Amino acid sequence: MPLIIWTDRAGRFSPLKLAAFLCCIGPMLLLTLMALTGDLGSKPLTYAIHDTGDWAVRFLLISLLVTPLRSLANLPKLIIVRRMLGVTTLAYVLVHLALYVVEQRYDMFKVASEIVLRLYLTIGFVALLGLLALGLTSTDSMIQRLGSVRWNRLHGLVYGLTVLSLLHFFLQSKLDVTQPVLMTGLFLWLMGYRLMRRYGFGTGLIALLLLAIAAGLATALVEAAWYAARSGVMVLRVLAANLDISLSIRPAWWVLVAGLVMVALAFFRGRDRRSGARAEASPAVASGHLAPTAVSK
Ligand code: HEM
Repeated sequence: MPLIIWTDRAGRFSPLKLAAFLCCIGPMLLLTLMALTGDLGSKPLTYAIHDTGDWAVRFLLISLLVTPLRSLANLPKLIIVRRMLGVTTLAYVLVHLALYVVEQRYDMFKVASEIVLRLYLTIGFVALLGLLALGLTSTDSMIQRLGSVRWNRLHGLVYGLTVLSLLHFFLQSKLDVTQPVLMTGLFLWLMGYRLMRRYGFGTGLIALLLLAIAAGLATALVEAAWYAARSGVMVLRVLAANLDISLSIRPAWWVLVAGLVMVALAFFRGRDRRSGARAEASPAVASGHLAPTAVSK
């Protein structure tokens, strides 16, 4: 692994890696700044625990977004920031746990017993151990030692760990589950995309459009099922709330919008690719007189 975070494997400066690095440390810097200026509210530790937990889940999902973005947005180079995103997830989770230990006044017996006794903490702890295992096996030497088959099999655990993280998110929520529902909806889209590719449905525009709609509907169902199971609210009432956007825009709509953005990306980037391929095939380019435009490497 190159020592300098903003260089690529060849040791050249990579603006993409630098931008990703700044995005990765941004939320932590902001949180630190808010802590220093006393802007974390009346319960600063609780605020910081929630913030680092939120960012851990967000970075987990962003790392899962790399695969679809590489092909749909024709950005194969994104692969060079995937490991950084995974390590960032782990860093936020470790800070999240450390803050919890501080909140419990460093009483490790209390921390351990709470983790054993409270289901949402037990689930969070298992997710943390899994993410730690993935982080520790992400160095070049570990990848080499494990070999690509075993490494890929091990890192396939990331999907199960994301499910556990989302469950932890849901279970610790009090009444409002808007955020965990939104994250779950985005995760459903990410999984749907992978399943479509794996089972040969392709990722054409129509398939992506159907995926966006299906992920939106599934999000609405997850939300309705959660409220029904937790507070006995009728499923149909929660589903109907999705139609009233005058009060709030429910997560299902945001997931649909995210899915449509991916359709648009695939449409425009696909058009770029097609025109690039045409340009390459044209006699002027083929003979080396013109450089092809927007062709991925
Ligand atoms: C030993 C492991 C963990 C411990 C002890 C822990 C502890 C906690 C605690 C105490 C809370 C706040 C609960 C409350 O205020 O009632 C929380 C919330 C949260 N945790 Fe964890 N957690 C762990 C692992 C994880 C992992 C692995 C993730 C995700 C990758 C995660 C993501 C979250 C999120 C998203 C929230 C909610 C934030 C919000 O409501 O805005 N946690 N966790």
